[in-house]
Amino acid sequence: MESAAPQKFLDNPALWLEWHIEAGADEVLQETPRNWLAAPQEAAKTGAIESQSHKPQPPTASLPLGTAEACLAAAKLARSATTLEELRAAIAGFEGLAIRKTATNMVFAEGNPKARVMIIGEAPGAEEDAQGKPFVGASGQLLDKMLACIGLSRWEEDPEKSVYITNILNWRPPGNRSPSPAEIEMSLPFIERHIALVQPKVLFFLGGVPTKALLQTEEGISKLRGKWKDYTPQTPEIGGSRHPALPSYHPSYLLRTPIKKKESWIDLQLLTKELGSSM
Ligand code: URA
Repeated sequence: MESAAPQKFLDNPALWLEWHIEAGADEVLQETPRNWLAAPQEAAKTGAIESQSHKPQPPTASLPLGTAEACLAAAKLARSATTLEELRAAIAGFEGLAIRKTATNMVFAEGNPKARVMIIGEAPGAEEDAQGKPFVGASGQLLDKMLACIGLSRWEEDPEKSVYITNILNWRPPGNRSPSPAEIEMSLPFIERHIALVQPKVLFFLGGVPTKALLQTEEGISKLRGKWKDYTPQTPEIGGSRHPALPSYHPSYLLRTPIKKKESWIDLQLLTKELGSSM
């Protein structure tokens, strides 16, 4: 946190409260209680493998037991979906992700599935969870404004002027924490199938999570943004083909760091150029 933050909170107690709520202080994280004072082995017995993911994990951290099986089940379900509606039902029916239990709604996608641009974010936040739609909170409003600047909208029927928006995760991680490596791994077959069914002309990744997951890279978003990359599906037998993919900053990062909007504008112009070249 910035050094100026504590004074900011002292000056404005409402902001302090809002920060706690954002951080999940009002959330029930697990169905069974956990004794946080117990020794680690004891804590493990009381459940919640998922709680491991509250701590930052290195990208190479081994996935929790059972994740490999869950990934196989996810791949099987994803593969069986031949339409977007079937994919939505497959994701809704997948039991492997514990975050589905703390989420209010599943967030599948919004926009025009015939759009040339498929936008992929990280995971739903509180507002998205409440409405069951991606990018409808503050960062979504900024995203809509950015898209409007280049003549694109999620509500447009014309495929040339519309976008289709989804996330790597379809359920909100409690307290808006970052998705764990296991959650990303289990969601990968679904998002890859999603891309295969939509077959967009281009992919636009918002932030490091979709960029790292779908481009199989550990490089940071500030290095990767603004350059066209080649997306290739990595889940065996999931189908789908390669697509040009442009990583860019996440709008919530832009809200916190407005100086970076300049670079995002460059990315939007790159996107326009690519779309223009195929019209
Ligand atoms: N952030 C995301 O990555 N996705 C959303 O849908 C909302 C916020």
